Amino acid sequence: MTGKIGELNPPPRLLMGPGPITCDPRVLRALSMPLLGQFDPAFTAYMNEVMALYRRLYQTENHWTFLVDGTARAGIEAILVSLIATVFAPERIEAAIRQHRPRVLVICQGDTSTTMAQPLDEIGAICRRHDVILYVDATATLGGMALPVDRWQIDAVSAGLQKCLSGPPGSSPITFNQRVVDIVAARKHVEAGIRPADYVAGNGVPIQSNYFDLAMLMDYWGESRLNHHTEAASMLYAAHECARIVLAEGLENCLARHRTASAALTAGLTAMGLELFGDQAHKMPNVTGVIIPGGVDGETVRRLMLEDFGIEIGSSFGPLKGRIWRIGTMGYVCRKENLLHCLGALEATLRQCGFRAPPGAGVDAALAVYRAAVSVPACLNCRVMWL
Ligand SMILES: Cc1ncc(COP(=O)(O)O)c(C=O)c1O
Repeated sequence: MTGKIGELNPPPRLLMGPGPITCDPRVLRALSMPLLGQFDPAFTAYMNEVMALYRRLYQTENHWTFLVDGTARAGIEAILVSLIATVFAPERIEAAIRQHRPRVLVICQGDTSTTMAQPLDEIGAICRRHDVILYVDATATLGGMALPVDRWQIDAVSAGLQKCLSGPPGSSPITFNQRVVDIVAARKHVEAGIRPADYVAGNGVPIQSNYFDLAMLMDYWGESRLNHHTEAASMLYAAHECARIVLAEGLENCLARHRTASAALTAGLTAMGLELFGDQAHKMPNVTGVIIPGGVDGETVRRLMLEDFGIEIGSSFGPLKGRIWRIGTMGYVCRKENLLHCLGALEATLRQCGFRAPPGAGVDAALAVYRAAVSVPACLNCRVMWL
């Protein structure tokens, strides 16, 4: 590359795809706070606050509730690599296959690729009956769908900031209970250079990752503050602010806001003559799949939405590629005015592409849902921070 490289100046966009979504300015402000050393008492106090904040969001008493640095996949990998032993004797594999008894049940609460939500309220009890660990990927749903971790007997959960928590990608809040701690502790092997004098290694199979080793991360986030990695301080500030914003609004209000937006968006799209994707009884409230009408090129619509209106909506992958758009109404973006802009822009764009929706029908239907909603909290502008 030659010539002058200018300063970063990203175009203004309204990100209404399946994530990332437009970041809350309060979170961007938190990202610019001065860095501190990770063992500075002021910083470890922030770490403890983050643990407390995410316990509230996850509705759990789990002590081990903290951030894994990296995008949401980091949290997923840390939990899975620490729970699942990767080397099995063949006879164990055979026995496992015969019995069809998994050790860990891995399930996604809201699958953004299909826009479907998995009901979870009964799964935990089933897992307990069969002594199976239940792990839930809540990347796209924490703050957007109910997830009472303790009440639903979920053993481990991970999430990301860039969806219903209104933050940037790059930090994964996780939580897990004593059942997980017992498994992980048996596999604990602290690396030689930082072993404390009283260290006793677990007798289980060592965890096959250094960075995502939950046993070492627990020592790092726990009272011993055993060094592991340099905490991504700016991302911790962001995660701190993300949780505060949801809790200041009130978790229930926040969930209701996502439900109302989903109802308004689906009403608007249907009134425009568009067909929604998938079984609507199991639709997740924060991402909506829309079937691309016959004769319309989905990518042209996405390009024009971006060029003419600055609005990003999502395409799809795999078997759904070219068949559906995915529209996200998550976190900071999940507000009436954005949704109405999106519907109006989509109507105009579709007209350019040969699909004629009844003029104004989408916006009118969505507005009617908002008007009928018992309470749509004006909480996104809430100035009260009660923590
Ligand atoms: C349900 C779900 N799980 C996991 C991921 C992966 O998250 P990340 O890209 O932050 O690693 C995504 C991202 O879109 C997601 O929607």
